[in-house]
Amino acid sequence: MPELKERKFVGKVDFIKGLEGAITHESTLSYVDGQNGKLIYRGYSIDDLCRGGGGYEETACLLLNGKLPNRRELDAFSADLAKRRAIPKEVKDLITLVAKGTHPMNTLRSAVSLLGCLDPKEFEVNVENDMRISLNLTARFATMVAAIARVRKGEPILDPDPSLGHSADFLRMMTGKKPDARTAEVMDMALIIHAEHGMNASTFSAMTVNSTLTDLYSSITAGVGALKGPLHGGANEQTLRTFLEIGDPAKVDSWFKASKEKKIKVPGFGHRVYKAYDPRARIFDPIAKEFAERTGHGHLYQIAKKLEALVVADLGGKGIFPNVDYFSGIIYNAMGIDTAIFTPIFAVPRIAGWCASILEYLPENRLFRPTSIYVGDLESEYVPIEKR
Ligand code: ACO
Repeated sequence: MPELKERKFVGKVDFIKGLEGAITHESTLSYVDGQNGKLIYRGYSIDDLCRGGGGYEETACLLLNGKLPNRRELDAFSADLAKRRAIPKEVKDLITLVAKGTHPMNTLRSAVSLLGCLDPKEFEVNVENDMRISLNLTARFATMVAAIARVRKGEPILDPDPSLGHSADFLRMMTGKKPDARTAEVMDMALIIHAEHGMNASTFSAMTVNSTLTDLYSSITAGVGALKGPLHGGANEQTLRTFLEIGDPAKVDSWFKASKEKKIKVPGFGHRVYKAYDPRARIFDPIAKEFAERTGHGHLYQIAKKLEALVVADLGGKGIFPNVDYFSGIIYNAMGIDTAIFTPIFAVPRIAGWCASILEYLPENRLFRPTSIYVGDLESEYVPIEKR
């Protein structure tokens, strides 16, 4: 067999497992500064967007429309999104049929797929039509995830209330009661900081599918599937389960010792890009403390901080720090949300990031088609089946 260096490859690129550092395209959407622990959407830091008071709608508008809206534009965008929040009866029926027996991300993936089947303009691929679908999906993800949470608990699906903001209505549709102002504000922050994050695995999956010029629903279905994985969005569920498994701050040392012996990666730590503290975890840390203590779950926060100290002392030198999924579960748990719904909550705002990435790339679309290095045989002799 010819040596690797003698084989012909198209293009001249380095081979790095997991495509680490590989560049797909130029984007003005978000900048993940992994060395300094900063996250910027279209020039604005997530800290400013969280503090600004414009809510998730402001961030979604910024991502999808490309610029920060003025008051009039934001009001119009918010009203438009609220009008789009209702979901078709067929989607409610699907959720009612399957949500109890499967992971909520599977139900969400299927619901997106059904929305595509119900859309007569599904296959019209252009920026205008994809923007229409993007706005619908951005509005409807909240309604679908809330409906999934309700059905899983045996409760009836609630229709949207367009008089409420996106985050407040999301919480109301999920829990059945209008949230207090602070809870709605924190959900707004959660949706803002999860809305976009560069060329992560789910965005890459959605963009790869969309680069074939298939319909947007198919691309988003792929994004939902990728986000579900425990190395990506699924880590927030695993993190809370870890805290609950440890159960007591006094047991953190022995748990960590055992996890090291078993070479288990601690959920909620590490990131492909951040080699400093994830800025999203920095925002969530004090809120996790506030919400855990307010609801009698202070021990979960104490476990988290003790485990963080141990992991950072041990692995901080390798750039391993808490990521966005470390504290979010404590907050959602304090809000009374089921653990299985944590990853779908991640999808509720990320839909805007996925769609904005796809809309940005569409006018300059080129099919994503990387290559692999073939290391198999080249000249095997074919033996007829009866002689093998
Ligand atoms: N716990 C313990 N050690 C870890 C962890 C962890 N969570 N993460 C990385 N390390 C170690 C690795 O074992 C490796 O050690 P080595 O140099 O001795 O081999 C070193 O740190 C470098 O880590 P990589 O595996 O190369 O990091 P990679 O970029 O491939 O993976 C990932 C990043 C998948 C996020 C990883 O850190 C991980 O599995 N974390 C736990 C799951 C998680 O929290 N995922 C959510 C990420 S945020 C998001 O997607 C929204």
